Amino acid sequence: MACFIVFEGGDGSGKSTQARSLLRRLRRRGIKVLRTREPGGTPLGQSLRLLLKSGEPMAPMSELMLFEAARAQLVQQVIRPFLDQGGVVIADRFTSSTMAYQGYGRGLDRELIERLNREATGGLEPDLTVLLDLPVETALGRKGSGKSGGNGDTFDDAPVDFHRKIRRGYSALAASDPDGWLVLDGQRPPEELSREIWAKVQTIL
Ligand code: TMP
Repeated sequence: MACFIVFEGGDGSGKSTQARSLLRRLRRRGIKVLRTREPGGTPLGQSLRLLLKSGEPMAPMSELMLFEAARAQLVQQVIRPFLDQGGVVIADRFTSSTMAYQGYGRGLDRELIERLNREATGGLEPDLTVLLDLPVETALGRKGSGKSGGNGDTFDDAPVDFHRKIRRGYSALAASDPDGWLVLDGQRPPEELSREIWAKVQTIL
């Protein structure tokens, strides 16, 4: 049964660990599943990812367009075809990342972002979005950010206040669609989170 599950959260929230864990659970049960990430997941997306995370100074509008370009390619080339074949797609980040980072974080027009998200995805929306929420300081500490010089990543090295806005943005997005989101405390033990996510996914499948 086709199903599209997205993991969202700030940098260092543990999304990738949980996405991997869900992938393993589904595979073990013989379910046709694909894991991908944004930006990335296609050759074009991978090139854009390097550029977007390189620390290269970029106007917020340019940044927005490049994330949307990566998304349009990923949906058309990878996600849509896999769903059409009845598979389960797990994505690290999707449209809500743009709303949280470029909308709430950078302050770009949210209606514009909504429109671009719709165009880039052809209207595709996740069946479930899992939000791993945790205090910004804890998350950045996991990433090793905030140390002198940072790690050269555009987003990891952004000021703490930027990350706080993103966290608030995610909370607002989740609150506006409680049925579509599973919000979890990212500080809980990973195995416990994994079990809770699995229980929820089973109800959808
Ligand atoms: P990550 O894959 O390691 O999480 O890195 C992707 C970075 O890009 C992360 O800091 C969040 C950021 N991002 C945006 O700012 N907007 C977007 O639309 C997406 C998909 C990611």
